[in-house]
Amino acid sequence: VIPLKELFEDYFEIGAAVTPQQADLGTAHGQTLRKHFSSITAENVMKPDALQRVKGQYTWSSADQLVQFAKDNNMLVRGHCLTWHSQSPDWMFYDENGDLLSRELALAQLEEHITTVVTRYKDDVYAWDVVNEAMFDWDPAGVIEYREDSPWYQMIGETYIDSAFVYARRADPNAKLFYNDYNSIFSWKRNKIYNMVKRLKDNNIPIDGIGLQGHWMVNTSEADIRTTLDLFRSLDVEIQITELDIPVYLSSDEPGATVYNDTFSFRQKMAYTMIFDVLLDYSDIITNVTFWGIGDDHTWLDQPGRKAFPFLLDEELNPKPVYFEVQKLVQNR
Ligand code: G3I
Repeated sequence: VIPLKELFEDYFEIGAAVTPQQADLGTAHGQTLRKHFSSITAENVMKPDALQRVKGQYTWSSADQLVQFAKDNNMLVRGHCLTWHSQSPDWMFYDENGDLLSRELALAQLEEHITTVVTRYKDDVYAWDVVNEAMFDWDPAGVIEYREDSPWYQMIGETYIDSAFVYARRADPNAKLFYNDYNSIFSWKRNKIYNMVKRLKDNNIPIDGIGLQGHWMVNTSEADIRTTLDLFRSLDVEIQITELDIPVYLSSDEPGATVYNDTFSFRQKMAYTMIFDVLLDYSDIITNVTFWGIGDDHTWLDQPGRKAFPFLLDEELNPKPVYFEVQKLVQNR
């Protein structure tokens, strides 16, 4: 078994999203992280509600532990995330009557949060998801651009995005600053992301890259991925795949299973070899590919009676057949 980080070392960093419990060399997860991965992302503990649940009271211990683990084991840290409508404390959005805050107060609090967090992890976190999931998701007609039900949008308008990037750059001039979103490969959403990032760049807002979350499917279209990467390439930004996972089902209608079978294995071999073939083709702009977990034992996609098995490593953290197909693909290039 060639460790993933060696397999891809000529192309991009290989990362995993982790919990603090996993970032410990005394566990199988910690050992697997050290062996296979060159980058980690906190699955939850660097989000706004984890770091500053109560206004003015920061809780650093879990995030610090992840950062220390990364340092001890020569890994990079992607910071996730600074500005999001979800997993953020209510005080960032509402006053004690439940009314939305004023634009001024909202921006001041956002600046304080970003400045404090980014400054603390200056030099330790090399890339930040500065704004997460700001574009409206379902609108094939392409009329509604931004997620208008986000409190950030309602309090400030779309320029909260601009402000967040400015605050982050001021706090750490060296960190790479990303806009991160899902469903980005579909035409209706990639065009919105393109237009928004173009607007930022035209206004000299400091953005370095676009994160494609990569919650893809076994039947995800190669053309959609390539078209998106071509479009984003024209923006002259770096690309990172930030939350890659490929559940085994063809659709949400397919009955769930709790045992991995040959059909699942076949689907994943087709999907993962296609995806890594494409990503390698674009390795001049792709700098990091991060899985949203380590092995099939722990994933946000699992439901009772319906396991997702979305990774290259199984529930015991051993390489699955799909792992060796990906290995072959890279070696044959
Ligand atoms: O921390 C609480 C705990 O105190 C409580 O007892 C427990 C009971 O439900 O919940 C715990 O919080 C859970 C949290 O994960 C930590 O485990 C939340 O309920 C649960 O909703 C939360 O889910 C996370 C989800 O983001 C929230 O939106 C997933 O773990 C995490 O994988 C997922 O990650 C997101 C990315 O940040 C952004 N892109 C999509 C991706 C998948 O949804």
